[in-house]
Amino acid sequence: MSRRRVLITGATGFLGSHVAALWVKSGHRVRCTLRSTSDTRWLEGLDVERVEWDAREGERLDAALRGIDTVVHVAGVTRAPRREDYFRVNATGAGRLAEAAASAGVSRFVLVSSLAARGPDGGTGPVSAYGESKRRGEDLVRLFESRMEVVILRPGGIYGPRDTDLFPLFDTASKGWLVAPAGSPPLQPVYVTDVARLTVAAGTVTQPGVGPYPVAEPGRYGWSEVREGLAAALGRRVRGVRLPKAIFILAGIIAEAGARLTGTDPVLDRRNAVDLSRHGWTCDTTPTCDAFGWEAEVALRDGLALTADWYRRVGWLKA
Ligand SMILES: NC(=O)c1ccc[n+]([C@@H]2O[C@H](COP(=O)([O-])OP(=O)(O)OC[C@H]3O[C@@H](n4cnc5c(N)ncnc54)[C@H](OP(=O)(O)O)[C@@H]3O)[C@@H](O)[C@H]2O)c1
Repeated sequence: MSRRRVLITGATGFLGSHVAALWVKSGHRVRCTLRSTSDTRWLEGLDVERVEWDAREGERLDAALRGIDTVVHVAGVTRAPRREDYFRVNATGAGRLAEAAASAGVSRFVLVSSLAARGPDGGTGPVSAYGESKRRGEDLVRLFESRMEVVILRPGGIYGPRDTDLFPLFDTASKGWLVAPAGSPPLQPVYVTDVARLTVAAGTVTQPGVGPYPVAEPGRYGWSEVREGLAAALGRRVRGVRLPKAIFILAGIIAEAGARLTGTDPVLDRRNAVDLSRHGWTCDTTPTCDAFGWEAEVALRDGLALTADWYRRVGWLKA
């Protein structure tokens, strides 16, 4: 495999930091974008070049893309107060980056989209502003398919070390409880390093095809398996509390409103509550496995144990 000069966006975030680390470990030359406000703790000690770039602005793209042959666009907004906040970054920002990349002579552009861009099982299409913005981002990036190779990855729910979104699940379980919606459809998550590994394959294999490629573990799970996995990972009994769907969604709305008032991250928000209780998010990953010789290696029970270990090691969870 030839050594790539890769630009990774979103490398200060949960997924992007794992992506950047793995590209470095795989021997490639890595440049990461960050903002003046970014928390760079996950990049410390990593041999990467840093450039400033904000997806909401069109500036600094020339400097970011100079000498780059591969872009892995991970940056995105997953939680925002207004619809336009999602679109500015996930759609317009992605399109603008793709246009600049094509003009700068980039040969491959890997877009980390989301299963939310496909929408839940049943073929309804996206059901949230987040999903719509990710779908629009895909369409805008695909406009440049004739000028560079475009690969679109659509991960399902990602979890693992450094994730703040699912940390409350572990935190509550460590106190003995798992609150989940009653009668909800199966889950098909994916461990973060499996997604990172796929971005390297997507950036380097010959003629990958555009996709979109669903990204998840092959296994599907119910909440009882999540509860058992958490109990094993935390070494304690975890009791499941199943809330009626409407109550679960109401809890999401209340948590989101409370967090907005206090300026903190909500334990649950409305979109996640609706996504988890009303919709199934399963997918067939065969095309992804075939195109990249990739398969998710970390099954849920192991992934939960690895994640809990990490939360303990860094002191987020009590040892
Ligand atoms: N987590 C999941 O379950 C999941 C599932 C499917 C797809 N995805 C996709 O994976 C990507 C990463 O998600 P994540 O969970 O790792 O989120 P995250 O931890 O919130 O990271 C988001 C990253 O995007 C950057 N970013 C946000 N707004 C930006 C802007 N205006 N300009 C430049 N950079 C910006 C952030 O930079 P700062 O550090 O400066 O804020 C951060 O590095 C997203 O595109 C998301 O849609 C995530």
